[in-house]
Amino acid sequence: MQNYQDILAEILIDEKSLQTRIAELSAEISRDYAGKELVLICILRGGVPFLVDLSRRITIPHKIDFMAVSSYGVGSRESSGFARVSLDLQMNIQNRDVLLVEDIVDSGTTIASVLKLLNARQPRTLKVCSLLDKPERRETEVPIDYCGFKIPNKFVFGFGLDLDEYYRNLPFIGVVDLTKYKPSE
Ligand code: IMP
Ligand code: MG
Repeated sequence: MQNYQDILAEILIDEKSLQTRIAELSAEISRDYAGKELVLICILRGGVPFLVDLSRRITIPHKIDFMAVSSYGVGSRESSGFARVSLDLQMNIQNRDVLLVEDIVDSGTTIASVLKLLNARQPRTLKVCSLLDKPERRETEVPIDYCGFKIPNKFVFGFGLDLDEYYRNLPFIGVVDLTKYKPSE
């Protein structure tokens, strides 16, 4: 697999800007959910770095749980138009104040499907917190209650976002130069 330096077109959001914005979101969430039964639900796998940094800075008691959903075919970078749940929550969210934590809202398919599914379980409130929003790609309108950054229609990687499952560990958000990227076997 290529090193990220070989396929990086530009750094779109650097580490410091990400951390500053995450601190702001955590402060906002801590205020808004004071006295509530907050459960952060991380959508695997892209939401992990964001969840960790966000949760660590939230100053009120809360729980975390995980869910895996996929709207992308294997080896594909296009949405398949539906989301499949491959790992469900462990917790009962009835009467909880649920906040979904996602890496990016692109077509909106994933979040729309998850909202529909979780709403049926009667949470007290259900909101969305996404690190990134790519509004130009939207096909399904979804509410984003807490948004880190709006970004242009470019394929990005790092800080949870992958390129064929690689590069999720990078501490920044980069734009990939697809002319230089060679997918491995
Ligand atoms: P949606 O269902 O089209 O909104 O897609 C959401 C999912 O697609 C995200 O959770 C990501 O896993 C993936 N995705 C969308 N855009 C990008 C990107 O630019 N880089 C990496 N993954 C992306
Ligand atoms: Mg992905």
